[in-house]
Amino acid sequence: MRSFAPLVLSLLGASAAVSAAEPAADAADSNVISLTKDTFDDFVKEHDLVLAEFFAPWCGHCKALAPKYEEAATELKSKNIPLVKVDCTEEEDLCRTYDVDGYPTLKVFRGADSHKPYGGARQTDSIVSYMTKQSMPAVSIVTEENLEEFKTLDKIVIIGYVGSDDKTANKSFTAFAEAQRDNYLFAASNDAALAKAEGAKQPSIVLYKDFDEKKAVYDGKLDEESILKWVKTASTPLVGELGPETYSKYMAAGIPLAYIFAETAEEREKFAEDFRPIAEKHRGDINIVTLDAKLFGAHASNLNLEPEKFPAFAIQETTKNAKYPYDQSKKLDAKDVGKFIKNVLDGKVDPSIKSEPIPETQEGSVTVVVGRNYQEVVIDNEKDVLVEFYAPWCGHCKALAPKYEELAALYADVPEFKEKVVVAKIDATANDVPDSITGFPTIKLYPAGKKDEPVEYQGSRTVEDLVAFIKENGKYEVDGLAEGAKKPEQGGDVTSSASQAAETPAPSEESHDEL
Ligand SMILES: *[C@@H]1O[C@H](CO)[C@@H](O)[C@H](O)[C@H]1NC(C)=O
Repeated sequence: MRSFAPLVLSLLGASAAVSAAEPAADAADSNVISLTKDTFDDFVKEHDLVLAEFFAPWCGHCKALAPKYEEAATELKSKNIPLVKVDCTEEEDLCRTYDVDGYPTLKVFRGADSHKPYGGARQTDSIVSYMTKQSMPAVSIVTEENLEEFKTLDKIVIIGYVGSDDKTANKSFTAFAEAQRDNYLFAASNDAALAKAEGAKQPSIVLYKDFDEKKAVYDGKLDEESILKWVKTASTPLVGELGPETYSKYMAAGIPLAYIFAETAEEREKFAEDFRPIAEKHRGDINIVTLDAKLFGAHASNLNLEPEKFPAFAIQETTKNAKYPYDQSKKLDAKDVGKFIKNVLDGKVDPSIKSEPIPETQEGSVTVVVGRNYQEVVIDNEKDVLVEFYAPWCGHCKALAPKYEELAALYADVPEFKEKVVVAKIDATANDVPDSITGFPTIKLYPAGKKDEPVEYQGSRTVEDLVAFIKENGKYEVDGLAEGAKKPEQGGDVTSSASQAAETPAPSEESHDEL
């Protein structure tokens, strides 16, 4: 099943912000500086660090960002980090110079020649935190005098305590900090007394956070991978809150995510408290979050829960996109749910699979696959199976349909081909599939004997090219247009390059960072 951000999240976020955006955008007392081609270069030359937004006035995401950007600008003013904006409908050349190809585009400038994409979420706190980190050296040096202040600079700060002559530890920590400087704030100290006062040996790394146990100490292996694994675990709240700022982080964590849907803040707090011991027990194996069912309730159906029936609980294995909804007729008792979590982690629970009914008869030449027979039709067999993942609303999919049917007939109508090649399609919005599908149509070939290495089709959507693709990548190298097979009338059609593009999901479903 696709792992899109739930649609309501971005919708709510956007619409709520739009009305608030308008007055701020034109207000004379705005802290966001509008620049043009005449002022831009000089401005970025004069300031060490600048965040620039390239926008278009009609762009919905830009409108949603505007009040947040304004707030961030106000907060960052005291740190001398200016936030600027450029209207790309007025400044086409300037925007082209900086390769702006979508709105809004945010870039961090260090002078006119050095810039990189902004790498945080489009939220006030994230912008402030990200730009603060950009303004500091990768590793600051802390002393007894400034340690306490440094700890308050961000929600999470990471400090390496290394011996003054321990070059190896210093080098490893510095390298890690440089690699992660966009994500965390780092400092180091070689003061042995300070380390002792903080309960840390030399070398060790201490992560200070403004939640849970406030502080975690690491004295394991100092290689990047081990440190990062620890940092990810230590920086994640035991029971966090899922929202636009945290969604992508949880999705990228590489471990299952457990959702507690609840409608009121009080309920969520209570659940968080009840579930904390469970979260502690499984720390590093699963993340547990609460989320506001009033705002984000529609996400429940993505997890195969019944919508509107809250509180509710479900686990999602983000890497395989398997879902484990908890029986909604039962009360959400932490102890019972704790057992359920353990069983899921131990592999004792079968994932729930969203599926249309298995078709009783196949009507055309294209085999219709659904969630429940996907394994059988696509994976557990000795055939080369071509699968089109489509969405009912997708125009390119509709355009492809007659050609795809024609393609399928080339194999279905020839008995010796039929044994070797299957041309199939699945509505990926109504059925769970193991792969994450990000655009429609997506076409993949699952070759016999190599089902775990599907080949994605990137060519033009013509019958001839698809036949060639099956021949080239399938185990049996079947040539559907070889003698005996009827020549399709419009096989050679070359569609225009514009129509080759896969459709990304509807705007409401598209962007993870909007959640
Ligand atoms: C780590 O090494 C660098 C470069 O030699 C040095 O400037 C820095 O002070 C050292 N850090 C600590 C905490 O000793």
